[in-house]
Amino acid sequence: MGRRILVTSGLPYANGHIHIGHLVEYIQTDIWVRFQKLIGNETTFICGDDTHGTTMMLRARSEGRSEEEIITEMHAAHLRDFNGFGIEFDFYGTTHSEENRQICVEIWNALKRDGLIEEHEIEQLYDTEAKTFLADRFVKGTCPSCGKRDQFGDNCECGAHYEPTDLTDAVSTITGTKPVLKKAKHLFVNIEKEHKFLDEWVHSGALQAEITNYLTGQFLSNKLRSWDVSRPAPYFGFEIPDSPDNYWYVWFDAPTGYVGSTLQWCKLTGNDFNKFWKDQSTEVHHFIGKDITYFHTLFWPTMLKVAGLTLPKKVHVHGFLTVNGEKMAKRRGTFILASTYLKYLNPDYLRYFYASKTSGRVDDLDLNFDELESKVNSDLVGNLVNIASRTVKFVQKSGLSSSYPDDGGLFKRGVEVGSEIAEAYENCDYGRAARLVMECGDRANKYIEDNAPWLISSDSGREVELRNICTIGLNLFRQMAIYLLPILPNLKVEVERLFNTKIERWEDASKPVVGVLVNQYKHLMTRVDHVLIERIIEESKQSDVVENSVKFKDSDEVLKLEPLVGEKISIDDFAKVDLRVARVIEACEVEGARKLLRLKLSFGGEESRQVFAGIKSVYKPQELIGRLVICVANLQPRQMKFGLSEGMVVAAGLGGEEIFLISPDNGAKPGMRLH
Ligand code: MSP
Ligand code: ZN
Repeated sequence: MGRRILVTSGLPYANGHIHIGHLVEYIQTDIWVRFQKLIGNETTFICGDDTHGTTMMLRARSEGRSEEEIITEMHAAHLRDFNGFGIEFDFYGTTHSEENRQICVEIWNALKRDGLIEEHEIEQLYDTEAKTFLADRFVKGTCPSCGKRDQFGDNCECGAHYEPTDLTDAVSTITGTKPVLKKAKHLFVNIEKEHKFLDEWVHSGALQAEITNYLTGQFLSNKLRSWDVSRPAPYFGFEIPDSPDNYWYVWFDAPTGYVGSTLQWCKLTGNDFNKFWKDQSTEVHHFIGKDITYFHTLFWPTMLKVAGLTLPKKVHVHGFLTVNGEKMAKRRGTFILASTYLKYLNPDYLRYFYASKTSGRVDDLDLNFDELESKVNSDLVGNLVNIASRTVKFVQKSGLSSSYPDDGGLFKRGVEVGSEIAEAYENCDYGRAARLVMECGDRANKYIEDNAPWLISSDSGREVELRNICTIGLNLFRQMAIYLLPILPNLKVEVERLFNTKIERWEDASKPVVGVLVNQYKHLMTRVDHVLIERIIEESKQSDVVENSVKFKDSDEVLKLEPLVGEKISIDDFAKVDLRVARVIEACEVEGARKLLRLKLSFGGEESRQVFAGIKSVYKPQELIGRLVICVANLQPRQMKFGLSEGMVVAAGLGGEEIFLISPDNGAKPGMRLH
């Protein structure tokens, strides 16, 4: 008996178009689904649009049309893009459906029954003109810490974090009016009540080790905070039963969309819903990006457990896409929409490239177009396709040999490697799968090189030998192609046509095809044309996408999910580091230094130091003068080419270009020591 598997990808927001960052996820999931189907597991791939929330409501208002109209339009656009990349859902639904509402009610009742719902009054900024409460990202004002204007409601460029109510002269970004404070009742889910269950589930093997560590370290080692799941009207979403004018927060009814969409699909196809969500033997696999980890690994399992629905067997978390080592950005032309890419390049190239970069770990993934070009050219064109193109023409007339000739064990070796490749797919280590297939290709190409069919002329009396060589070459090609089908689904039709033979299952890679006529060879894949990549970048600079409309999260982005600390140190070790608050009293660029600024720091009174800081790419000297920073004051002075550095300013970052200086809260004075 095969496994029954239900697979989901994160539901994309209905207010933005699909871009190449999203595709990291949908391609990764699609490959896994295609692999499971190919090896014969009963697999269903469910996804849909995430439609609710303030952003959708505001967009509908500003465009003067209904939310439903926008949702319908975006649903079609998303499906078109997914289709273009060969991403094949069994069903693509929406969270704005009666089925989803029904599931929400079911889960809600279970949460109430178990006493997990509680009510608290909270005070929030309110826009009296737009008549709506304002989430942090809809408030701007002057930073209470550094005085910089035009900062968001929760944090400032200077690094300060605060409540939107702390901003001086706050304005609503929706209407530009001054918001007022207003109280409202919110409903919360007390997930602490399921702490013990979560502890167990998080260690049940459902998560990658780094995710388990992150959840244990950041959340489960403390009391879990209750989760605010309601929003007062006006809000675009589902009204909460028995709580008039209160709506479920979008993150409550988004994951339920996995279940609601399954229900929609079951109704359409006559499938039995209970087989999927009320049967713990069904494997539910969620694929998501790391930014939405805690919604899927704390709240969601709690909701499912309490409602008696199938718990996820695995949550596969992947990292974020960078392009040429940097965040996607419109001004660099790297905020590339799926539809823009499709105008110019073969989608299989991106599928193959992403696959080759996918390891099953949470690391970010970098798209470098030069690398994509060379990978496609060398692996797909130079290795895979090369095998077929150098052999097929010699057997066009004769067809393949009637039995499979002695190939010195090459085909058999490929069969053996097949189980390793399958294991790599199962573990989402597609990079390894692709490498193993390319090694088969290296062996096949060497065989063809050694036997040089092009040197055998057709009247040499060596026709049988020629036919055998090509039969071997083409079968090795076909074996590779079958192994690559999850990544390159378009190969299927081509290879079936070439060999006049259907491909049904993974095992077809263990049976050579013999005694058939082969069809005319078409160019399966051609080299990447560099000019087309440049066009994509150019067009992406012009397009009118709003980067932020695609990504609004009410939580901090989870950056690197590494264990928090390495070696432990004692409090005495820490005490050796003399960390001080200091004020920048001079700042200037340093001639001949690309990254450095020279700072003069005052510790109050006469005490000052000169330090060099590698922050020139992010901070202008004049914006630093006067602000407070944290300085390692007892660092051994260091003689640099540009002068003596007598300390170090501390900053946060991931080691890349983005650097954030650390500031103390209001009231701290230069010279104060950090304890
Ligand atoms: N609507 C929520 C998900 C709800 S799931 C119940 C959401 N939508 S999203 O459109 O912002 O993202 C959809 C999926 O794509 C998420 O899993 C997200 O992590 C992933 N990605 C979005 N941008 C991405 C990159 N730049 N890189 C990699 N994955 C990205 O979040
Ligand atoms: Zn500030």
